[in-house]
Amino acid sequence: MDILEHIMMRRSIRSYLDIEVEEEKITQLLQASMAAPTACNNQPWEFIVVNDKEILNKLRNKLTFGKYNAPLAIVVCGNMELAKGGYENYWVQDCSAAMENILLAASGLGLGSIWIGVYPLPSVIKPVREVLNIPEYVIPLGIAYVGYTDENKEPRTQYNEKRVYNQQYATTRKHRARPKNLKHL
Ligand SMILES: Cc1cc2nc3c(=O)[nH]c(=O)nc-3n(C[C@H](O)[C@H](O)[C@H](O)COP(=O)(O)O)c2cc1C
Repeated sequence: MDILEHIMMRRSIRSYLDIEVEEEKITQLLQASMAAPTACNNQPWEFIVVNDKEILNKLRNKLTFGKYNAPLAIVVCGNMELAKGGYENYWVQDCSAAMENILLAASGLGLGSIWIGVYPLPSVIKPVREVLNIPEYVIPLGIAYVGYTDENKEPRTQYNEKRVYNQQYATTRKHRARPKNLKHL
């Protein structure tokens, strides 16, 4: 299958089978993640791999919009000590690229995944820090839940030609943030 098919196949999975993700696949997910581009190749990222059931449950219980039963969480963090030196403002893009690579690699490995947002919400950052013992100078950007999927979702694009301009921006065009009546799931 080619890369474009995996990009379309990546959907947010919110129900998982009770099967552990193999260590080899976890390593492959991390290798894919750390293949992402970063500003000036600064690589300000760090990753917390959580597959201990007790810690996963503690984490899940703190996440209002992340109570899904995935057997693996990879928490993508930006280390502000590593982001220093003029690159600090790029850490969100750098870590987001790393996060997206995890989700796409999961599809390539026959796994489902979902991005659970943490940064920039203090009400989510704080409990995640507490459960995972994350120091102040490290900021959790988001959580990739990964596992064997227990739901079928169709591949799709959300291509919308109205969002595309030719050569120059046209301020006269009006459009919605997203199509009317679209369910976020
Ligand atoms: C930054 C970010 C944060 C997200 N946070 C959550 C979340 O907390 N809970 C959740 O169920 N989905 C979350 N999602 C997944 C989106 O709801 C999902 O990507 C969107 O509805 C499109 O569906 P798709 O991923 O299947 O294409 C998040 C996605 C992004 C990019």
